[in-house]
Amino acid sequence: MIKQAKETGATFVGIGYYLPEKVLSNFDLEKMVDTSDEWILTRTGIRERRVAAENEASSDMAYRAAVMAMEDAGVGAEEIDTIIVGTVTPDMLFPSTACIVQDRLGAVKAAAFDVTAACSGFIYGVTLAQSMITTGKSRCALIVGVETLSRILDFTDRTTCVLFGDGAGAVVMKSCKPGEGILSTFMQSDGSYAELLYLPGGGSRSPLTPEALERGEQYVKMRGDGLFKYAVKAMVNASKKVLDEANLKSSDVDFLIPHQANVRIIDGVRKRLRIPKKKVIVNIDRVGNTSAASIPIALGEAKEQGLIQKGSTILMVGFGGGLTWGAVLLRYV
Ligand SMILES: CC(C)(COP(=O)(O)OP(=O)(O)OC[C@H]1O[C@@H](n2cnc3c(N)ncnc32)[C@H](O)[C@@H]1OP(=O)(O)O)[C@@H](O)C(=O)NCCC(=O)NCCS
Repeated sequence: MIKQAKETGATFVGIGYYLPEKVLSNFDLEKMVDTSDEWILTRTGIRERRVAAENEASSDMAYRAAVMAMEDAGVGAEEIDTIIVGTVTPDMLFPSTACIVQDRLGAVKAAAFDVTAACSGFIYGVTLAQSMITTGKSRCALIVGVETLSRILDFTDRTTCVLFGDGAGAVVMKSCKPGEGILSTFMQSDGSYAELLYLPGGGSRSPLTPEALERGEQYVKMRGDGLFKYAVKAMVNASKKVLDEANLKSSDVDFLIPHQANVRIIDGVRKRLRIPKKKVIVNIDRVGNTSAASIPIALGEAKEQGLIQKGSTILMVGFGGGLTWGAVLLRYV
């Protein structure tokens, strides 16, 4: 089949992020569970993570990141016609966190919905928005990745509570010349490995009864070793797919922004892709694994530090529960 060149491209015109103030260090966790700074740092690369304030929910952090991205883009709320929020920690099951953010922003013309793709939520959201913009269904989209994972962690379970953090990242997307902006995207899932990372309670399978709460079903369950092996393979595969589609090599990449789940996973991915360490954006040491928020937070920080410039080729690659994974290759314009 002959591939038809798209008449319109889609790109990021604004980037923003928000991290809650409270810092939870490995030393703080040493006082809560049987763990050590040394174990956490050597196994994961994490030194500290941020934790949302008691009165702070996902929509509050999403709003802050969205406002920063909109200011960066010079876009007002009335211009936004699509809001996509990637999260597994919505304010509530419904309405969507995207609808709550829409109301707070006053983006009255927007269609708003959440995407549940765990740590791949931002990549999935951007991919959807790109399709909508390049087909003329959207002119200005806001995509947010946000998590308040501290609310679904069991702080007596050392195998999960040391890994995750809270925060939000956002981008505003608009059309651009074809061949600029987003060069290629890829998404895939494998539901047969759902039991590697999931939250059993609070849905239609197991409503939050006192018995379910007693069993701890309100908390994240994870099998880290299985995820580790799958993550490296899937992230490398997704990266190769987007590079191939854009006819680029990994040596053409200026910055790799991988999902920040474990510094050893990040290292495994970059080595297999032959991308030098200096091109990899890593902030897991300060923020932990913020799931759907991890890539846009890292992107926002990299932009703030002046690393990412106009013309930079950026490979973003995510992996998470579901299982889900995917990548977005961007020439930042
Ligand atoms: C979770 C993870 C850091 C564990 O690292 P690991 O090297 O695989 O460690 P193991 O699971 O083999 O555990 C080794 C030992 O440390 C213990 N341990 C687990 N968490 C600990 C902690 N916080 N502090 C101290 N010891 C801990 C385990 O109980 C185990 O003890 P045992 O050998 O006596 O049973 C790693 O598997 C990982 O990062 N997986 C991917 C996670 C991920 O990507 N999750 C989200 C997907 S987006």
